[in-house]
Amino acid sequence: MGAMAGPERSYFDHAATTPLDPAVLEAMLPYFRERWHNPSSIYVEAQRTRQAIDEARETVAEAIGAQPDEIVFTSGGSESDNLALRGVLAASTQRGRHLVTTAAEHHAILDTAEQLERDGALVTIVGVERDGRVDAAAVAAAVRPDTVLVSVMHANNEVGAINDIAAIAEQVRARNPHTAVHTDAVQSAAHLGVDVRTLGVDLLTLTAHKCYGPRGAGALYVRAGTPLVPQILGGGQEERRRAGTENTPAIVGLAAALRLAGERRAADIAHERALQVRLMAELPQRVPLLGITGPRELALRLPGSVSAVVAFVEGESILLALDLAGIAASSGSACTTGSVEPSHVLVAMGVPDELARGSLRFTLGRMNTDADVDRLLEVLPAVVARLRALSPVALEPPPAYLPWLDAPSLALAR
Ligand SMILES: Cc1ncc(COP(=O)(O)O)c(C=O)c1O
Repeated sequence: MGAMAGPERSYFDHAATTPLDPAVLEAMLPYFRERWHNPSSIYVEAQRTRQAIDEARETVAEAIGAQPDEIVFTSGGSESDNLALRGVLAASTQRGRHLVTTAAEHHAILDTAEQLERDGALVTIVGVERDGRVDAAAVAAAVRPDTVLVSVMHANNEVGAINDIAAIAEQVRARNPHTAVHTDAVQSAAHLGVDVRTLGVDLLTLTAHKCYGPRGAGALYVRAGTPLVPQILGGGQEERRRAGTENTPAIVGLAAALRLAGERRAADIAHERALQVRLMAELPQRVPLLGITGPRELALRLPGSVSAVVAFVEGESILLALDLAGIAASSGSACTTGSVEPSHVLVAMGVPDELARGSLRFTLGRMNTDADVDRLLEVLPAVVARLRALSPVALEPPPAYLPWLDAPSLALAR
C-alpha cells in the first residue's frame, strides 16, 4: 500500500471514500489561504474567486459532456440525490407525483423516496436481478402517465453491478416522454467515467470523495429545461438552484479530481482490473463456502469492486479480525443500533438473510498493489477458519445457500 495508508496497512474500501490526491490538495490550497473571498462580492479579489468557480464549472461540465450552466454544486452525493428527487417531484405537481426507483439504490435515494411517499408521493420500487443489475424493461414497465421521475443508479456501491442507463432512459422515454431520468453516478464517475449524452439522462449525481477529491463536495447535473425546485433557500447562488456561499476549495477540488480521473482513467482501470481479477478468481479457491456476489462478467462490473458472502460467519467479525491484521475493508451492510441488518442490496438480489450477514466488500484503488492482494489472500482464509472453529453449528450449507456459493464444500480447503 502506498504512503497514504501507511506502509503496514492495506486499504480496500475505496467505495467508501478515497484519499485526497496530492495534486487535488495543491489545487485547493490557494482557496483556503489567499483566495478566500466571497465570489458574490464586487471587488477584484472576489471576482478572482468567481472566476475559479466558473472555471471549475466548465471543467466538471466538460468531464461529463454537459454545459456549464447545467452543473449545480452541492455538498456531495447525498445532497445531489436529495435535490434530484425532491426538486423534480416538487416541480411536477401538476403532472402527478409518481416516482420509480430500484431496491438496490443507495439510502440517499431510498430514504428520500420513503420520505416523499410519507409526504404524499406515489413510489414504485423495482426489484433487481440476482447479479444486482436492473432490468430496463422492468423499469419501463413501472412507468405510468403520471410518472415524473425515474432514478436508477449507474453502478452499485455494494456489488459493483453496472446498469445500462442508456437503455433504461430510452425505454422510459418510449413509455412516457415527460418522465425525467436521474442516475446516481457516484461510483461510476470515479471508475468508468460518465457522459450525460451517452447515458441520455436529465439529472446525474456526482461526488468528489470517491475519486480522490475532498469529502463534502459534489454536483448535480440538471439538463437545461428540466424543472427543479431548489431545496436549500436563501441566496441566489447556483442560478437560484442551491442557496449558500460557495465552498470554493471544495468546488475547485471536485473539478481537479474529475480532471485527474479522466487523465488517469485508462491506467487506473487496467491496474484495478488486474487486482480485481486475481481476487475474484482466488478468494473462492482459498475460502471454503464463499461466493462472489454481483456480476461475473467484468464488462458489467465496476473495476476494482470485489464482493462476496461467506457462510456461517458474521461479516462484521471478519472485518474486525482483518483490521487487526492490517486490512481495512467493509461489509456493505448497514449497522443500526446494536444489530447488524443484512445488506438491502443482497436481500433484493435474493441472497438468504443469514448468508447475507456474512457479506464482505473489497474495493480497490490506485494505490493498491499485488502485495496488498497477497496479504488479503493469506489472512482471510485463516480468519474465516478461526471464526468458524468457534461456531457450535454444523457447517453443512442448506440448499438455499448453494446457488450463491462458488466453493460449496468445506472439504475444498483441506
Ligand atoms: C451510490 C452512492 N450514492 C450516494 C452516496 C453518498 O455520497 P456522499 O457521501 O458524497 O454524500 C454514496 C456514498 O457512499 C454512494 O456510494
